[in-house]
Amino acid sequence: MATRVPHVETVAALREIVRGWRQRGETVALVPTMGALHGGHLELVELGHARADRVVVSVFVNPAQFAPHEDFDRYPRTLDSDLDKLATVACDLAWAPTVAEMYPAGAAAHATRVQPAGAALGLEADFRPHFFAGVATVCCKLFNQVQPDLAIFGEKDYQQLAVMRQMVRDLDMPLEILGAPTVREADGLAMSSRNRYLSADERRIAPALNAALQALAARLAAAGPGLTGTTADALAAETVREIAAAGFGKVDYVAVRDADTLAALGESRPAALRILAAAWLGKTRLIDNIAA
Ligand code: PAF
Repeated sequence: MATRVPHVETVAALREIVRGWRQRGETVALVPTMGALHGGHLELVELGHARADRVVVSVFVNPAQFAPHEDFDRYPRTLDSDLDKLATVACDLAWAPTVAEMYPAGAAAHATRVQPAGAALGLEADFRPHFFAGVATVCCKLFNQVQPDLAIFGEKDYQQLAVMRQMVRDLDMPLEILGAPTVREADGLAMSSRNRYLSADERRIAPALNAALQALAARLAAAGPGLTGTTADALAAETVREIAAAGFGKVDYVAVRDADTLAALGESRPAALRILAAAWLGKTRLIDNIAA
């Protein structure tokens, strides 16, 4: 039988293990996931190991961040193979609560929520209005349950990372949020648990999203220091057309933003830009973002 990482399913069991580590003076990193682990997640674990004595990976498909019409029911649940994969990296413990353990009254009836604004407005929120309250609420709970010194999030969900930084700053949560670069397939497609939904044809088209963002980054660079919001929007609109021409269905957005604040561009070019995009391939919604 394959070696598996130990896992716990109750807050009480989790706390007992973490308490033991703390009594020995050990530091703890948390990697929050929804499971269906891929190479990108495993790199987050290694990063956690480089920064802390112990690494906890949470595996929880969070109903609170899915709208009723979204893919909560079909989201892959692969705990056994996730535990096998975690045994190949420096993970000490998987925290895999049931929905009843996380939300005893049910996710919909859970009375206390974290409702972020600021970085949580626009972009993803325009298309998934419930999403960031669900993510912030579950991550607040995960942080309270594990009480890590740091939590690690992939840059693939760039806006989510910004919302996490904002939440710990605004609510004085005593942990560091660490962002890690997106891990990509050889053809540029960002690794994602949802890539497994893609048909062979869709998988062939999928890298065109990243290629279009790279082309936009080159155009933004060519626009130089005088780049304004109006020019950036026109270039982004051209990229929307390119993504559609490559075979994608609806393009939810391509946006050029201030990399730090995620604010739209005005009359002057910010120090660092981020290009963010979301588009549909069949029934699968892909997101990606790059620095520019
Ligand atoms: O990025 C994810 O997988 C989820 O949004 C997270 C952070 C684990 C919260 O459920």
